[in-house]
Amino acid sequence: MPNIMSYRFTATLLALICCFCQPDSRAQSAAPVPALKDNARFPIGVALNVGNEPGDMADIRESATLINSQFNSIVAENGMKMRFLHPAIDTYDFAAADALADYASTHGMILHGHTLIWHHDYQLPVWMKNYQGDWQAMLREHIQQICRHFAGKVKSWDVVNEAIDNKHPKQYRATLFLEKLGPAYIEQAFIAAHEADPAAVLYYNDFNIESKSDKLQFMLDMVDDFQRRHIPLHGIGFQMHVSIDSPDIAQIKTALQAVAARGLQVRISELDVSLNQQQKAASLDPARAQLQKTRYRDIVSTYLQSVPPAQRGGITFWGLLDKDSWLLDNKPYPDWPLLFDDKGQAKPAYFGVLEGLKESQ
Ligand code: XIL
Repeated sequence: MPNIMSYRFTATLLALICCFCQPDSRAQSAAPVPALKDNARFPIGVALNVGNEPGDMADIRESATLINSQFNSIVAENGMKMRFLHPAIDTYDFAAADALADYASTHGMILHGHTLIWHHDYQLPVWMKNYQGDWQAMLREHIQQICRHFAGKVKSWDVVNEAIDNKHPKQYRATLFLEKLGPAYIEQAFIAAHEADPAAVLYYNDFNIESKSDKLQFMLDMVDDFQRRHIPLHGIGFQMHVSIDSPDIAQIKTALQAVAARGLQVRISELDVSLNQQQKAASLDPARAQLQKTRYRDIVSTYLQSVPPAQRGGITFWGLLDKDSWLLDNKPYPDWPLLFDDKGQAKPAYFGVLEGLKESQ
């Protein structure tokens, strides 16, 4: 038996060495906490910026210890959107996304692809906005080039993102794709992706499907129609950008259960819990940090209660550190929506997730 003093000395020395070897310059003072991924039997993911807006592999390497210790699934927050992968009609740029794919494979992580088709103006390739040729053939080529390139590296794809109108949720969103091809572009996208990579799990991904019952119903009607006609749709991604008090947890449960009842995979694909929507507070006070903890715990346990194990595509958080969150972009007030603070320290929110995972396996 080593004597207790020498044991303590060795432990302190080791801690000091580890501290200096710590590669996470963005997360230096973080105390170690249990790994979320070790407390779940489904993928636990995080969105990482790569190659754009702003961010590259250097940012990711700076947080590598935290990322690698907590997560076993990653998604490019921006770098695999249409504009970045397909910047000109005859040009595909896979360099940044390939680096992320290498990172995933080196660290034994799943890479989820986001997203093959998205209407959003800021990321639609400019050439596509002006395209005058055969739209169906062009979109098919876009999808198939990308899916073929990443086959074997990307496990699952968001094939179509946000195709349902959010203001008038009983109709499809008026996008360029809808204008050119009608609603058929959605099923065509799934068919094209499946042909190019038959092993990939194919998701439809959207927001407010847990909070707007008519949007959920419109999506379920689409799902039912696709299932009747054997369109290769395998799962639904609930973005789940929510706040501490809305939507009601019962509503979230109903939505998750409705999709699970259809036998599909269910992902919570972009989880964050905004704190500062109503009150414009300058800092995160302990009382609201606790409310956020409870909210995260409830969402995780509701997912576990509502989705059978074989259908759990996993939970992905939309960013690592609070300061990275997209919710801070162009906002005149701060927010603290994620699990780790700006130094990589686990917040009460993190412990809420951990509790939710432990309570309801
Ligand atoms: C966001 C990114 O987080 C931002 O960095 C970017 O400027 C805009 O897009 N729904 C989605 C994601 O499907 O792709 C969005 O990501 C957030 C909302």
